Amino acid sequence: MSNGSPTGRRPIGVRIAGTGSALPQRRLTNADLEKMMETSDEWIVQRTGIRERRIIDRSKGESTSQLAAEALQGALADARLNATDLDLIIIATMTAEMSCPASASLVANMVGAGTCGAFDLTAACSGFVYGLNVAHDLIKGGAYRTIGLVGADALSTLMDYSNNGRSTSIIFGDAAGAAIIKATDDTSKGLLAQAMHSDGRGWKEIYVPRCAEDFPPGIAADDAKYNHVQMNGASVFKFAVGTFPELIQQTLDSAKVAASEVDMYVCHQSNQRILTAARERFGLAEDKLYVNIDRFGNTVGASVPLCLDELRKSGRIRDGHKVMFVAFGGGLTWGSSLWQL
Ligand code: COA
Repeated sequence: MSNGSPTGRRPIGVRIAGTGSALPQRRLTNADLEKMMETSDEWIVQRTGIRERRIIDRSKGESTSQLAAEALQGALADARLNATDLDLIIIATMTAEMSCPASASLVANMVGAGTCGAFDLTAACSGFVYGLNVAHDLIKGGAYRTIGLVGADALSTLMDYSNNGRSTSIIFGDAAGAAIIKATDDTSKGLLAQAMHSDGRGWKEIYVPRCAEDFPPGIAADDAKYNHVQMNGASVFKFAVGTFPELIQQTLDSAKVAASEVDMYVCHQSNQRILTAARERFGLAEDKLYVNIDRFGNTVGASVPLCLDELRKSGRIRDGHKVMFVAFGGGLTWGSSLWQL
């Protein structure tokens, strides 16, 4: 372990050495939702592109931390490393089981990572992309060599599966995805450009009230909404469609890379219509923007690393590729991370 001992000024590169993912067992299909609320498969597919999602069952031991630990173990095996090789574990999540300890501490214990550093990072759907930038720069700075970065969320725990919650509960699913971010002597590898943004004025577009004082001005407090995601779908849609192309362009410009030089765009799976609108507005070829929302829904912090793991395992992302990660979400937050793999 190199935690706390800078390696000096020798230039180092940063690589993604392994990936993994984990899903709950239970499938929640649109047909299942039809039995729980007034909705239809047709409405959901047309508005979101989602056909099914997975949700946890805590009575069977499934949780955000359990999924995160499983995904991290998969990523460690893929990188041929042991948990004790980790200097730091970062979990991007908005659904840690408890506010203390952090999910990362539970995960460190579950995987047997000893006394490495562990903290949660909360930036809603942007969390994993923020984490990529943070992990990269911690390694580039020389104090850390191997970081386990996980995006894990179980939004099903914040859903109202009745008519009252039908515009949000159809969207979200549970999952975890992980990546091992590692120092390498190959200095060509690592970030070409990054961005992290937030506009707190938009906090009320997606929020989870816990008490009467949490509701925004003008919205009546309602205890039936406590611990359930409140979302202004139309505003979020507009924000996302506008932000995606702008963010991609800014990131390309700052890296001085042309859009066509990027081998794959790994974007947060918020909604099929948002992804399609952004892709068309930016003029990207269909096979350059990966989509798996039909099978998993919007899995928040897990969405980007779940795509990354599928793309690496299928060989569509590999060493030498340029890959752009982009996400946006509650906060409001948005961020990008353009890598030379
Ligand atoms: N099934 C059937 N009807 C539904 C429904 C459901 N699950 N949810 C809402 N409706 C109804 C509404 O009640 C409304 O009916 P009304 O016109 O009689 O009042 C109608 O459908 C239209 O609702 P609206 O909310 O305007 O639909 P929409 O076209 O904006 O689609 C979203 C709703 C949520 C799918 C869409 O706004 C969206 O995808 N937004 C982005 C959300 C997102 O990506 N969030 C994650 C950010 S990280």
